[in-house]
Amino acid sequence: MSARQPVRVGVIGAGLMGKELAGALGRWSALSDSAVDPQLTAVCDVNAPALDWFRRVSSVRTLTDDYRNLLDGSVDVLYVAVPHHLHESLYLDIAAAGVDFLGEKPFGIDPGASAAIGDGIAASSAFVRCSSEMPFYPGAQQAISFLQQGRAGRIIEANFAFLHSSDLNVDKPINWKRQTQFCGQIGVMGDLGMHVTHVPLRLGWQPSSVFAQLQDLVPTRPDGKGGVADCDTIENATLCTRVTDPLGDFPLTLETKRIAPGEMNTWRMRVVGMDGGVEFSTRYPASLKVMTVRDGQQVWEERMAGSQSAQPTITGGIFEFGFTDALLQMWAAYFAERAGELGDAFGCATPAEALASHDLFDAALRSSATGSAVPFTSGTRRRHVASDVAGVIGRA
Ligand SMILES: NC(=O)c1ccc[n+]([C@@H]2O[C@H](COP(=O)([O-])OP(=O)(O)OC[C@H]3O[C@@H](n4cnc5c(N)ncnc54)[C@H](O)[C@@H]3O)[C@@H](O)[C@H]2O)c1
Repeated sequence: MSARQPVRVGVIGAGLMGKELAGALGRWSALSDSAVDPQLTAVCDVNAPALDWFRRVSSVRTLTDDYRNLLDGSVDVLYVAVPHHLHESLYLDIAAAGVDFLGEKPFGIDPGASAAIGDGIAASSAFVRCSSEMPFYPGAQQAISFLQQGRAGRIIEANFAFLHSSDLNVDKPINWKRQTQFCGQIGVMGDLGMHVTHVPLRLGWQPSSVFAQLQDLVPTRPDGKGGVADCDTIENATLCTRVTDPLGDFPLTLETKRIAPGEMNTWRMRVVGMDGGVEFSTRYPASLKVMTVRDGQQVWEERMAGSQSAQPTITGGIFEFGFTDALLQMWAAYFAERAGELGDAFGCATPAEALASHDLFDAALRSSATGSAVPFTSGTRRRHVASDVAGVIGRA
């Protein structure tokens, strides 16, 4: 095997996810076929203490509080993991500089921001993808493959969900993800929505209409300084959509919830059709359930998913897979596609898929405001304002 090509990687936003990148790159040798050798060389954060953690990563040469210092050709690829209200300006600057990047979801705070980012990327030479790692679990990959092969037959119904629960603790202090000015009017959908739209969009399932139930359960939270702050975001969102399909339309339900008691970080999918079905949840990551009709009997069987996902690793086939493995897979897919070597393997979410997700969340806001199903409209480029949000359960 020829030597792997070194790639200098920088991170902008040295928070929760920025640190995870360091962990993923640290395990790169586990990937059997990767043609690259990515090294974390530069880190940017406006908060100096956040940079300190990266001093433990021996390959890091540059620590800076200004991301523009990383646009001069000193890094080959950037990972951008900053609050949502900053996506538009940073992603546009990075694209304009022609630097390749993996940007965190939701790719802007609203459809207007996401569309502007898409325009900037289209006008640049940068190779850009959007973060969404959960579909890289082996069980999810096998479920996707089952569906791509048409083995479910005519789809009866599909459900995708991403469920958190730490917000059940009303004493948990506020952070930017719970404040509309930073997170967006779409609330939880901005935080968790790309995770539930990635696979349906990749399967070509485009909703034609949306009925949404949005819920606000916690109006205030401790501000962490002895006071109280408004927690003005939508906590839970359930979107009942109708997908137009040549074999027959079907309902697709998308759930994103910050308060789903007992679910710590559960990504799950369930699709049933006239010929078969699949079910996978990261809560039970070692297996997936597959339904087939055999000898006239409806059989739900449990299959062990193993350790292998979209990009081969040296990890033993019988070993088990977790969140950090999914991140490694996502990054391996990013670099493989960047090198033109993805082939038929599952790829990262695209800027177009991020924009389609925003159009879906926008339809959810319109549905909630009217209390009815609304047509899905692409290309709205709407810039959300507070008056776009109405009909939310739990708000006066
Ligand atoms: N893929 C996933 O599973 C996943 C999970 C959590 C968060 N996210 C996404 O990652 C992004 C960041 O979330 P997080 O949880 O890491 O947040 P975080 O608050 O832990 O970290 C964000 C960091 O960005 C820094 N920052 C703010 N402004 C900056 C600027 N102008 N330049 C450089 N740094 C700046 C902050 O100081 C902070 O350290 C968001 O888009 C979020 O939706 C993705």
